[in-house]
Amino acid sequence: MTYKGPYRSILITGASSGIGAALARAYSGTEVRLALSARNADRLEDVAAACRANGADVRTALVDVRDADAVAGWVSAENSATPIDLVIACAGITGGVAPHRPMEKPDAVRAIVETNLLGALNTVLPALAVMQPRARGRVAMVGSLAGLRGLPYSPAYSAAKAALAAYAQALRGTAGEAGLGVTMVLPGFVDTPLDNAVRSAKPFRMSPEKAAGIIKRGLARGRRSIVFPRRLYFALKVAAALPDILIDPILRRAVVEVPEPQTDPDRPNRATAGE
Ligand SMILES: NC(=O)c1ccc[n+]([C@@H]2O[C@H](COP(=O)([O-])OP(=O)(O)OC[C@H]3O[C@@H](n4cnc5c(N)ncnc54)[C@H](OP(=O)(O)O)[C@@H]3O)[C@@H](O)[C@H]2O)c1
Repeated sequence: MTYKGPYRSILITGASSGIGAALARAYSGTEVRLALSARNADRLEDVAAACRANGADVRTALVDVRDADAVAGWVSAENSATPIDLVIACAGITGGVAPHRPMEKPDAVRAIVETNLLGALNTVLPALAVMQPRARGRVAMVGSLAGLRGLPYSPAYSAAKAALAAYAQALRGTAGEAGLGVTMVLPGFVDTPLDNAVRSAKPFRMSPEKAAGIIKRGLARGRRSIVFPRRLYFALKVAAALPDILIDPILRRAVVEVPEPQTDPDRPNRATAGE
């Protein structure tokens, strides 16, 4: 398979599962070099093997995105081997308020912020540092539509994704002047182990392959933000614009079960709310 697109050397975190794995497969092809990371070796190697079968040159690394030094070392080593064109910070976990509890556990809040916010920044900051001398390259951060409005069943998740989106929006200004691209990706419901752990209505849910295709096309066009599905995006934008006094009771009535976050790499995000 021959890959046609502007990026030849691509680094992806969270590549062992779901959207990250689908992105790796979507980009795999001859003349593409993929640097893939996650914590679970078996799942990561399965994805790498599929990408190699499509002709890609693939290197894998077991890196926890919460470990800033480890991520920076990996990014720097990969860039020294082949200058990186595109970095996609996709690693993430879900988590929220367990049923019949008024709030999240403090450890759970920290785990989500450390992975979904700091983990993404641990990835894109060293990436921008190595791209800057060439004044070329793009970083993409995978947030969520859940960051558009605080959701009562997943406060830390909403907050981490909202903060990441604000960071990307701000970063775009200075990074753009340095010739670097910044893209924020806001997916809705995608059929992955992370989303399977959440019990709720899931309007317009799509496959990881479809999500990866949308992200890949948006990145090829150099989009500042890639949001999907559009109908859910606009519904949440309207909800965010309306007074809290109107929206809070509606959101409180929604039946949603979100598990406490799983940070164990042998069982990440795979708990179901009923377990
Ligand atoms: N699925 C959805 O509906 C949805 C919607 C909106 C946004 N998103 C976002 O999309 C991204 C990917 O999620 P997904 O749905 O594809 O979930 P997934 O299938 O559970 O994949 C999550 C990936 O993140 C990796 N990961 C988790 N914690 C990590 C850590 N500390 N260090 C390194 N890697 C870590 C996992 O690998 P290991 O366990 O092997 O480390 C796995 O590869 C996340 O940022 C998520 O918030 C998903």
